[in-house]
Amino acid sequence: TLMSMIDPFGRDISYLRVSVTDRCDFRCTYCMAEDMAFLPKKDLLSLEELERVCNVFISKGVRKLRLTGGEPLVRKNIMHLVRQLSQHLQSGQLEELTLTTNGSQLVRFADELAECGVRRINVSLDTLDPEKFRTVTRWGDLSRVIAGIDAAQAAGIHVKINAVALRNFNDAEIPSLMRWAHGRGMDMTVIETMPMGEIEADRTDQYLPLSLLRAQLERHFTLSDIPYKTGGPARYVHVAETNGRLGFITPMTHNFCESCNRVRLTCTGTLYMCLGQEDAADLRAPLRASESDELLSAAIDEAIGRKPKGHDFVIDRRSKRPALARHMSVTGG
Ligand code: GTP
Ligand code: 5AD
Ligand code: SF4
Repeated sequence: TLMSMIDPFGRDISYLRVSVTDRCDFRCTYCMAEDMAFLPKKDLLSLEELERVCNVFISKGVRKLRLTGGEPLVRKNIMHLVRQLSQHLQSGQLEELTLTTNGSQLVRFADELAECGVRRINVSLDTLDPEKFRTVTRWGDLSRVIAGIDAAQAAGIHVKINAVALRNFNDAEIPSLMRWAHGRGMDMTVIETMPMGEIEADRTDQYLPLSLLRAQLERHFTLSDIPYKTGGPARYVHVAETNGRLGFITPMTHNFCESCNRVRLTCTGTLYMCLGQEDAADLRAPLRASESDELLSAAIDEAIGRKPKGHDFVIDRRSKRPALARHMSVTGG
């Protein structure tokens, strides 16, 4: 019989997101400060420890596992973990093993990911203009990311493009980015920027409510709501003109928390029950305290038992402070 983890609000927690490193080879301006303090390497869980925590989650009812970061593909020997976890795909315990990546290392890893049973990945890409790409990532090379997407598609992996909607930066470009994605047979999601962590930019200037973007798109495209679901928070429309799918991720304007099915593990073994709350549980101590998984399993139950109802992000004009001190790269979005 399949196990499941049900939280106090009756939600089935079947999706685990694992941030395997808080480091990244880019520094997107809405995600990180230019001068980021990263976690000391000695604080990281080893790949074996990460695997063990994942195994316990899977035995308790996780069906979808996503590796994130920072940039997951910059973690040393990450393919070892992917390969180990892929055994759960073969046994049927896990339905999906996937990744959210900036694409910079995909040329190197695409074939191996496909071999491990990764069917679908999400690639963060906010602009197709090489200069703007360099600006938003602070030094990223767009052509490498495009080559990475090519490699993933050539390996048979479905790619979804994630674009954070940034006012006066890429809002005017979203239609062409979407045409490009759909033209290549890729889904795309647009994301409202969330006030997580100190950055140099002013989030009130960057913030674009997606209801506005949708209204702009509807002047040129025919959007129809569709029930397509991937297990994430996006609400999808079908775009008649491009015959593609566009998803809206609207943490700021539309709470999707009622149907939340996920929790997040950091690379140091902290479990965040909600992206937008500080509530967390330390899994490293119970992991290291015993060879048996009982303590770890009990700590997970205790944590799921106090998963908050939802987040309450606000982007506040009067306050310069982010709603949460923690950067997105700690929990991987
Ligand atoms: P799919 O499996 O394709 O549905 O992916 P996903 O949307 O679950 O994952 P992805 O890593 O592509 O996340 C896209 C964006 O959604 C990121 O910016 C995440 O931060 C955001 N997101 C995902 N889950 C949550 C959530 O529970 N709360 C909030 N506020 N944002 C979330
Ligand atoms: N708000 C919204 N999305 C963000 N991302 C990173 N930082 C933020 C933020 N502050 C996005 C990345 C990636 C996804 C995992 O989260 O672009 O696509
Ligand atoms: Fe790195 Fe992704 Fe954050 Fe950009 S958004 S700095 S690629 S983790």
